Amino acid sequence: MPSTRTPLSQEALLIELEPVVATNLDRHLGLAKEWFPHEYVPWSDGRTFDGVLGGEAWSPADSTIPEAARTALIVNLLTEDNLPSYHRQIATLFGQDGAWGTWVHRWTAEEGRHGTAIRDYLTVTRAVDPVALERARMVHMSAGYSNQHDDEVLHSLAYVSFQELATRISHRNTGRATGDPLCEQLLARIAADENLHMVFYRNLLAAAFEFAPSQAMRAVADVVGDFQMPGNGIDGFARKSVQIALAGIYDLRQHRDDVVNPVLRQWDIWNVTGLDVDGELAREQLAEHLSELDVAATRFEEKRAAREARTAARSA
Ligand SMILES: [Fe+2]
Ligand SMILES: [Fe+2]
Repeated sequence: MPSTRTPLSQEALLIELEPVVATNLDRHLGLAKEWFPHEYVPWSDGRTFDGVLGGEAWSPADSTIPEAARTALIVNLLTEDNLPSYHRQIATLFGQDGAWGTWVHRWTAEEGRHGTAIRDYLTVTRAVDPVALERARMVHMSAGYSNQHDDEVLHSLAYVSFQELATRISHRNTGRATGDPLCEQLLARIAADENLHMVFYRNLLAAAFEFAPSQAMRAVADVVGDFQMPGNGIDGFARKSVQIALAGIYDLRQHRDDVVNPVLRQWDIWNVTGLDVDGELAREQLAEHLSELDVAATRFEEKRAAREARTAARSA
């Protein structure tokens, strides 16, 4: 017998979630560790650049970090850079009062640290072209950011649950791909923050599954169906994503198996009860999205393997 609960308004959802936000905010503040970007940057390796101070121009030979890892660093940094747009979105949707407001500001402050740390690191170590980086930042931020569901509370919570975990995985794998222990250490530190953000949002949506299961299911199905990384407005994003995926830093297999599935498991998605007709339909659509993702991930893995085999054959 399908449930026939009346859907809650966006306002009602925010009110229902407020105590959950308060509890998880306390949890977050208890677990989050203070850290300082400047401690992670090898400042004495730095050299003055050309231009105003007449130092040395950047050259690709300044760094030994592999090309794909440099691309991933740029994408990750530009993504962090767009924080003002994300802040506007969540401040508008979640509000600035009470526990919601405290969270919105605290989260913004933590994310701000990530961009600062990565930029300082890249500039001092000359890992990427600082002129191209600054121009790319201007283009990306000038375009702003909004996701497809920015006026829907549960869709936004589902989105950030996946996105924070995606960012965690991407930072971790980028760190490894650089081959630079200092960079890896910094990105692991940032990834630990992203994990706490993911847990915060995931817990909120878990609560929504208790009091509005069908709306929560609809949100998850829609978001998994049209998920795009927040950096998708970056100039050349499609090409950069392929490069990142070919290097195994972030690909569809990781997206499905290491990001989407673990979060779905935490919500015990296949055993949620009390769904109405649309909730059941959403769950079926979610299952379809997952099998489509599986097919696409396998296809990509096969193409990548074939490509690697061709490269190996050429250099043999
Ligand atoms: Fe971040
Ligand atoms: Fe985050």
